[in-house]
Amino acid sequence: MAFGRKKREDKIKLTKSEYRKAFRVFRFIKPYRSYFYIGFVFLILSSITAMAFPYLIGKLFDAESEKGVLISIFNLDPMTSIVALLFFIFLAQSVFSFFRIYLFSIVTENTLNDIRQFTFRHLIYLPIDFYNRNKVGEISSRLATDLNLLQETFNITLAEFFRQFITIFVGIAALFYFSYELALIMLAIVPLLAIFAVFFGRFIKKLSKDSQDAAASSNVVIEESLSGIAVVKAFTNELIEMGRYAASAQRVKELSIKGAIWRGAFVSFIIFTIFGAIVFVIYRGINILETGELMSFLLYTVFLGASIGSLPELWAKIQKAIGATEKLMSLLDEKAEVMGDDSEVIRIKGKVEFKEVCFSYPTRPDVEVLKGLNFSLEAGQTIALVGESGAGKSTISSLLLNFYSLNDGAILFDDLPSTSYDLHALRKQMAIVPQDVFLFAGSISDNISYGKPDASEDEIIEASKNANAWEFISSFPDGLQTLVGDRGIQLSGGQKQRVAIARAMINDPAILILDEATSSLDSVSEKYVQEALERLMKGRSSIVIAHRLSTVIHADKILVLKEGQIVEQGKHDELIEKSGLYARLSKLQLG
Ligand SMILES: Nc1ncnc2c1ncn2[C@@H]1O[C@H](COP(=O)(O)OP(=O)(O)O)[C@@H](O)[C@H]1O
Ligand SMILES: [Mg+2]
Repeated sequence: MAFGRKKREDKIKLTKSEYRKAFRVFRFIKPYRSYFYIGFVFLILSSITAMAFPYLIGKLFDAESEKGVLISIFNLDPMTSIVALLFFIFLAQSVFSFFRIYLFSIVTENTLNDIRQFTFRHLIYLPIDFYNRNKVGEISSRLATDLNLLQETFNITLAEFFRQFITIFVGIAALFYFSYELALIMLAIVPLLAIFAVFFGRFIKKLSKDSQDAAASSNVVIEESLSGIAVVKAFTNELIEMGRYAASAQRVKELSIKGAIWRGAFVSFIIFTIFGAIVFVIYRGINILETGELMSFLLYTVFLGASIGSLPELWAKIQKAIGATEKLMSLLDEKAEVMGDDSEVIRIKGKVEFKEVCFSYPTRPDVEVLKGLNFSLEAGQTIALVGESGAGKSTISSLLLNFYSLNDGAILFDDLPSTSYDLHALRKQMAIVPQDVFLFAGSISDNISYGKPDASEDEIIEASKNANAWEFISSFPDGLQTLVGDRGIQLSGGQKQRVAIARAMINDPAILILDEATSSLDSVSEKYVQEALERLMKGRSSIVIAHRLSTVIHADKILVLKEGQIVEQGKHDELIEKSGLYARLSKLQLG
């Protein structure tokens, strides 16, 4: 069940090198460190002013006795002086807190913005292989969770952590200031109690999580039986379903009551021990301290206890954030594709040659997909790849685009190996029209100019006309500005295909790759698309992967692929004469 998966991540044990990796995040904080330092000063100031509160409250109690006269400002009577001072302290603390929060959020939000952009930039430059190994949904949701955790940590958790430290430090000093004996008694009790409370608290949390899980699975029973209600009724299994639900509901009840018993025990234990300790300290302290001092002492103890109690929780949160940071930094360690700056512009003629190309996917290195492939394509020619599914046709198109590096052999463009070109510059020379066209959410115009971001409106219209797309685009009320996808119009398969052809055409690529571009279309749209494709192929080197042989009859060369090897090649008529695999496939399809 889905809950099992989560549990594994709850427990994190970090190694030294993971810590070191996580600490690389400071590289991102560095530019904003001056804000951080100032914020930190405000944090210290606000924590210390908060610690003046118990002291002054005590003084208030003693104001009338001789001990309280220690404080007097502006010749006011002691009582008014202390109240004025308290007011002033709270004012100072609120100002300090405001700036602490403001400055920390400046650091956090700037740092996070940098990390977000850096990470996205990195992700988008990672090779396709990375995306074969990792699920996109998982990466993006993990990234979102990790970044949220970092945001919370920098904004709140770290500040809290330091604040509690200051509180503990100042608190202990204050206890000793009032009385060594009482301070020692308190220090023997409070931390023990705090730690006990933490462990007990965790146990109770686990119990309540168990009952939540049980409640969730009993909801699953409801959902399942109700959404399958027709099946339940058809098989007259109402009673069985009721029994299933009764059992799980019973379990929820039992677990909840068990949790309540322990929660109750915990609360009464805490009440008893806290009041016990207070009574004990009062008993011991009544002869040593003034009433007000005793009051201050007890308040400091409460502050101290609360701080000590909150440390483990905060520490666990920080650990979790370090874990998340480490994962983030590991992602940044993934090797990105090497690109030059975009300034390099080349223009190739379009001669392509595969020389002894051997290839296996990095995710499955033991399966050789292409086994020493040789073929060549003169500039402007059309080559067709046919063969059963799984033969390696799409792999060839990925290799043309340099999505993967070869195991052996070379791919030459205009007689130079692909590795001697800049990746961006080379990819810019190619365009692909795949079987499943992916259009971005946005207007039709945006999608066409994706092939050439600086295209003018006239260029976009011309490309749509050449792609046989103008007719349907201009029939929409919004024309080129029509939105596609979820919030816009749903284009048919053939229309999408023609938008993709316009997108491929607009940059005037030297090499065109069509990977089963028409295979999912009905015969009417196929006719339109085919016509557009033929216009697109004119004057370019084209690699056509075809499902239907009717589309490859006119190719300059047809390669028949089987299990990563070329088993036949030639023109349509020659291959028919050979009466081999192609002839057989062709008889099957063309009759
Ligand atoms: N991303 C991938 N990772 C691992 N193996 C793959 C990947 N893509 C394709 N393959 C395998 O490579 C072989 C060739 O696939 P492909 O080139 O898509 O065939 P075709 O396009 O001719 O149908 C198949 O055995 C397929 O399982
Ligand atoms: Mg394929």
